[in-house]
Amino acid sequence: MEVSPSLLAADFLDLRKEVEMINGSAADYLHLDVMDGVFVPNISFGFSVLNSVGKICEKPMDVHLMIVEPDKWVNQVRDTGAHLMNVHYEACRHLHSTVGAIHKAGMKAGVTLNPATPVVMLEDIIGDVDLVLLMSVNPGFGGQPFIRHTLDKVRQLKELISKTGSHAKIEVDGGVNETTGAELAAAGTDILVAGSYVFGAPDPHARINLLKNLK
Ligand code: DX5
Ligand code: ZN
Repeated sequence: MEVSPSLLAADFLDLRKEVEMINGSAADYLHLDVMDGVFVPNISFGFSVLNSVGKICEKPMDVHLMIVEPDKWVNQVRDTGAHLMNVHYEACRHLHSTVGAIHKAGMKAGVTLNPATPVVMLEDIIGDVDLVLLMSVNPGFGGQPFIRHTLDKVRQLKELISKTGSHAKIEVDGGVNETTGAELAAAGTDILVAGSYVFGAPDPHARINLLKNLK
C-alpha cells in the first residue's frame, strides 16, 4: 500500500517540523489540500504555503485542489514542485483539456470524485488519467467518518480500469484509519490519504507504517 499523509491535520504553527517528520517517514507522498471557500465550505491554504512546503518536502507532492476552475492554476501548481495535480470532476467544465494541460505542464493528472458522483462518469477519461481520487467524505474538512459506499466505488473503479487497460491508480481520501484502510486495501485501493489518523497520533511514523503494511 502507498500512503499519502494529509498536511491539513498538521500543526500549522510548526509546519517545518511536520514536513521534516514526513520526510523521515515511510510515506510515499505528501497530500496537500487547497480549498477556496466556494467549491467547498472551508478555506485551507494556498500557493504561499505550497511554495514554502515545496522547498523542503522530499516526498512527491500530491496536490488536491478543492477549488472552482482549477485549470486556471496549472502552471502555479507546477511551480510549487508538485508531482501530481488532482482536480475535481465536479469543478471542471472541460476535463479532457484540463488533464491535457496538467500533462503538458509535466505533472501526473488525477481526477477526484465527490461521494455522490458515480464512477461511470469516468468512462470517457479513464484512459487519459494517471490517478483517480475517490472522496470517502464530503470534501472540506478533516476528521469526518468514512462513507462506506466508497468500498463499492473502489471495486467498480478497479473493474473499469482493468476493462479499459488504463494505468490509473486508485487513491482514497477521508476517514482512513487502520480499519477502513484494511477494507479499502481488500477492495483494491493503491494509495491511502490519511490526515487526522497520522498527524493526530502520538507516533505518526507507526501509523504510516501500519497503513503501508496493509495488503
Ligand atoms: C478533506 C481532505 C482530506 C482530509 C482528510 O476535504 O481532502 O485530505 O485531510 O482528513 P482525515 O484523514 O482526517 O479524514
Ligand atoms: Zn484531500
